[in-house]
Amino acid sequence: MSASIGTALTDAARTLQANGIDEPRLDAGLLMSHVIGRDRAFIVAHTEAAIAEQQLKQFEEFVARRAEGEPLQYITGHQEFFKLDFEVTPDVLIPRPETELIVEAVLELVHADTRLAFADIGTGSGCLAISILNEFQQAHAIAIDTSERALHVARRNAARHCVADRLRLVQADLFAAISVNDMFDLIVSNPPYVADDEIDRLPREVRREPRSALVAGPDGLSVIRRLIRDVPGHLRPGGHLIFEFGINQDHEIHGLVNSEVWTTLEIRKDLQAIPRMMVLQKK
Ligand SMILES: C[S@@+](CC[C@H](N)C(=O)[O-])C[C@H]1O[C@@H](n2cnc3c(N)ncnc32)[C@H](O)[C@@H]1O
Repeated sequence: MSASIGTALTDAARTLQANGIDEPRLDAGLLMSHVIGRDRAFIVAHTEAAIAEQQLKQFEEFVARRAEGEPLQYITGHQEFFKLDFEVTPDVLIPRPETELIVEAVLELVHADTRLAFADIGTGSGCLAISILNEFQQAHAIAIDTSERALHVARRNAARHCVADRLRLVQADLFAAISVNDMFDLIVSNPPYVADDEIDRLPREVRREPRSALVAGPDGLSVIRRLIRDVPGHLRPGGHLIFEFGINQDHEIHGLVNSEVWTTLEIRKDLQAIPRMMVLQKK
C-alpha cells in the first residue's frame, strides 16, 4: 500500500525534529511541496492523497539531507528575495530577508526613472543587483565577485529575470578590475563580515555556505574597511554607498567613516531592531 502525503509528512517531521531541525513541520511541508510540485495549501487540503512511490523516495532522500543539516534552499535550489525567485547553489550565500533593506533604501533614495549606473560588490547569487535592475528599468550595473562559481549562478539569475543585457559580471577583488574612469551613482554591497574565529559558532546550516561569503579577517571588518576606503574613487559626488554589516559592528564601522569624505545619512535597523545597514553619501 502506498503512503499518504500526511503519513509521509508526519514521519519526515519526526525525523527532522530528532535531528535538531528548528521547524520540522514547516521544512517537511516545503520539501513535500517541492517534490510534488504543488503549493502548501494543496498539501494541507490533500493529506489523505497517496504519494507516488518515486516521489516518496525522492522526498525521503531530501528529508535525510535536511536532517544532516543541509540548508533547505540548497536542496530545493531556490530562495525568494524581494519580489523575485533566485536560483541558489552551495556556491552562493542564500539571500537573507535583512539584505532586502538595501533594495528598500535604494527605492527611497532614487527616482524610478533615473538612468542609474551602479555597482554591486560581492554579488553572490546576484540578488541585490538583479532586484535593483528589476525596479529601475533605466539602470545599468556591474556586479563583482571573487568567486567565478558564484558569478555563474548570478549569470543564470540575470538571464532568468531578463536583466542580463544591463548587467556586467566581473570576477575581481573589489574594484581591482574596474577602470579608474568607471564612476557610479550608487554602490551597494552585502560583504562578508563574520570574524574568522566566529565561524565555528555559527549554526551548522550557515557553515554549509561558502566560507568566502562569510568571513572577513580577525574582526570581520577586513572587506568593509577596504570598501569604505576604496569606494570614493568610483562614486560620483552626491552618490551613495549602501551596505550591510554584522550584529554589534555599527560603532566600529562608524569610526571607519571619514567625515571629510562622507555624510552618514542613516543606520537602518532590521525587523528585530538590530542595526544592519548603513547609508553613506559622498560629499
Ligand atoms: C555575504 S555574500 C553576499 C552575496 C549576495 N550579495 C547576497 O546578499 O546574498 C558576500 C559575497 O562577496 C564575495 N566576496 C568576498 N570577498 C570579496 C572581495 N574581496 N571582492 C569581491 N567579492 C568578494 C563572496 O564571494 C560572496 O559571494
